[in-house]
Amino acid sequence: MPTEKKPEYSPGLAGVIAGETAICWVDPAAGLMYRGYDIHDMAQKASFEEVAYLLLNGELPNGKQLVEFTQQIAAERALPGAVIEMLRLLPSKTHPMDMLRTGVSMLSAFDKDLSDNSHDANIRKSIRLIARVSTLITDGWRISHGEQALPEKTDLTQAGNFFYKLEGKVPQDWQIRMLDTIFNLYADHEFNASTFAARVTSAVATLKGPLHGGANEESMKMLEEIGTPDRAESWLMKKLGTKEKIMGFGHRVYKEGDSRVPVMREIARDLGKRTGKENWVPICEKLEEVMDREKHLCANVDLYAAPVFWMLGFPPELNTPLFAASRVAGWCAHVTEQHDHNRLIRPRSLYVGHELRPYPDSSARGG
Ligand code: ACO
Repeated sequence: MPTEKKPEYSPGLAGVIAGETAICWVDPAAGLMYRGYDIHDMAQKASFEEVAYLLLNGELPNGKQLVEFTQQIAAERALPGAVIEMLRLLPSKTHPMDMLRTGVSMLSAFDKDLSDNSHDANIRKSIRLIARVSTLITDGWRISHGEQALPEKTDLTQAGNFFYKLEGKVPQDWQIRMLDTIFNLYADHEFNASTFAARVTSAVATLKGPLHGGANEESMKMLEEIGTPDRAESWLMKKLGTKEKIMGFGHRVYKEGDSRVPVMREIARDLGKRTGKENWVPICEKLEEVMDREKHLCANVDLYAAPVFWMLGFPPELNTPLFAASRVAGWCAHVTEQHDHNRLIRPRSLYVGHELRPYPDSSARGG
């Protein structure tokens, strides 16, 4: 007989407080704060390095600290030769997120601080990971497309170097500014699925899921299928009629809108003008209007991130890796915080299987 009464539980851990954090606060009414700073003020002004420093260390860097931190990251970008060799061995159709997961896993074996979980060691590992996640993405992409990985440009920041390593061209200042803003918007989001997984063990694989980070790749497929704003409403009504999930809409916490959407929408508008691709924003806006009317659901950041990445020239398969190149800062900050006050995360599950039954002798099972 069961020895405990059937407990209450929350499917998907919705609304469950699974721990404390001082890193990030998501306000369900469309707010987002890193270490007490409103993301709306900071995202468009700070470099990604500045935000990563804040997430990891709790305070903004002064000028000297920022220069040092930026240089430390730049100096750690190159991958061990064996990791480059491993990337070459993967089938060319391997998804960039699977390359990234395998690469991060392999990098751990080369990390001299692997088994040291002191605060200082965790910060050192964080710097290396922030630096190398980007390199795994850009080198992995070039290698899987039959090209050579390019040498690092240590005078470029993470955002600038990402463009350079992918395309072989030093980007313009406005492109770097835009990618910094995007990285800043994605850098942390308290106990989202992949960060929660990071605090327990594995973040990259979790981020790949289509209901989480993978949504920004799926959103682009959806927008391409729709094609023009006048087709958006009928496309959406058909999908809703067959009860399909619409990528780039809905959120576990935000119910009044995703705090990151207004900035991402403006970037999409700006890029539309610069690139002459002004169709995407009206398609997204039409989808927003109809989703609000039909389901009272708001867009999330991935709806606009998809065309933004597209117009910045990135292939859709790199949408989720780009998210990872930024969220790695938040993962690292959370893992460091977790280790600083470690308690094994071990939830319970609700048993819904058979009642207790006797074990039958094999002769009683026939066959
Ligand atoms: N399209 C259509 N209907 C939706 C959507 C959607 N995108 N999101 C939620 N709903 C509906 C559900 O079907 C459900 O309806 P019902 O009550 O009639 O069954 C209701 O809204 C509540 O939805 P849940 O799935 O219970 O909400 P939950 O908190 O579990 O899901 C999630 C949140 C996973 C993000 C969901 O909204 C979703 O699947 N969205 C699409 C994928 C996506 O864009 N993910 C990115 C999230 S943001 C990020 O990771 C950066």
